[in-house]
Amino acid sequence: MAVITLANAKGGAGKTTAALILATELARQGNRVVILDADPQRWITSWSEISGHIPNLEVISHITPASLPCHIRELKDEVDFIVIDLAGAKDAIVALALGLSDQVLIPVQGCAMDARGAVQILDLIRQIQEKAKVRIKHSVVLTRVNSLVTTRALQTIKALLAARGVSVLDTPIIERAAYREIFECGGTLQTMDATRVSNLDKARENAFALASEIQTLLPVTPRRALMSRLRSALPRAA
Ligand SMILES: Nc1ncnc2c1ncn2[C@@H]1O[C@H](COP(=O)(O)OP(=O)(O)O)[C@@H](O)[C@H]1O
Ligand SMILES: [Mg+2]
Repeated sequence: MAVITLANAKGGAGKTTAALILATELARQGNRVVILDADPQRWITSWSEISGHIPNLEVISHITPASLPCHIRELKDEVDFIVIDLAGAKDAIVALALGLSDQVLIPVQGCAMDARGAVQILDLIRQIQEKAKVRIKHSVVLTRVNSLVTTRALQTIKALLAARGVSVLDTPIIERAAYREIFECGGTLQTMDATRVSNLDKARENAFALASEIQTLLPVTPRRALMSRLRSALPRAA
């Protein structure tokens, strides 16, 4: 089981969108996923209420600093991924979630590059690491990136942040209508109507690439270990 937290001390950075896209894609791939909705605005809870049952996915709301560690402990053997969506804050629950995560993802909007909220989270991670003598794995994920932005431009941003010791995911989250509409219509990128939502296929591909890259950053989960054992035990296709 792996805990993935989306954090940025600023609202509107793209946390909730990234959390939902990631969680629904992991669930689509057959992983058991729980989203802990720790944002008092409860966007993911509202999405879940209009969506009805989504296979492999559950949303738990009203997360408090007291209940967060209990949920993680209880879910440890039940699920493959816990995705935590936080408020745009720098409070007790944010610090706790960072400390309990296997991977923290810090969304930064590619266009605005207003990185103040991200810097606050990076500082908080550094403080917790020093005080608690733990290592918190973390990366920036560029989001709302215009689909026309070149790989070279992204590489430049990546190099700039790398020079400051911050790692950046290779996969940016592109600005897509589907990522906005999902909160209005409910369901997933798979259940959306491709005739109504532009570039839905590209949004699905982007979600797949994001989830794939994030999985490479995580410790091997029991299910993945089992799958790879099964795969190597099966006869190869001719
Ligand atoms: N990749 C994206 N493509 C299109 N719209 C996005 C994307 N990411 C975020 N948004 C929009 O930006 C706004 C803020 O995003 P949100 O995920 O709610 O941020 P946060 O959770 O950090 O407050 C929302 O209106 C959301 O629909
Ligand atoms: Mg949010």
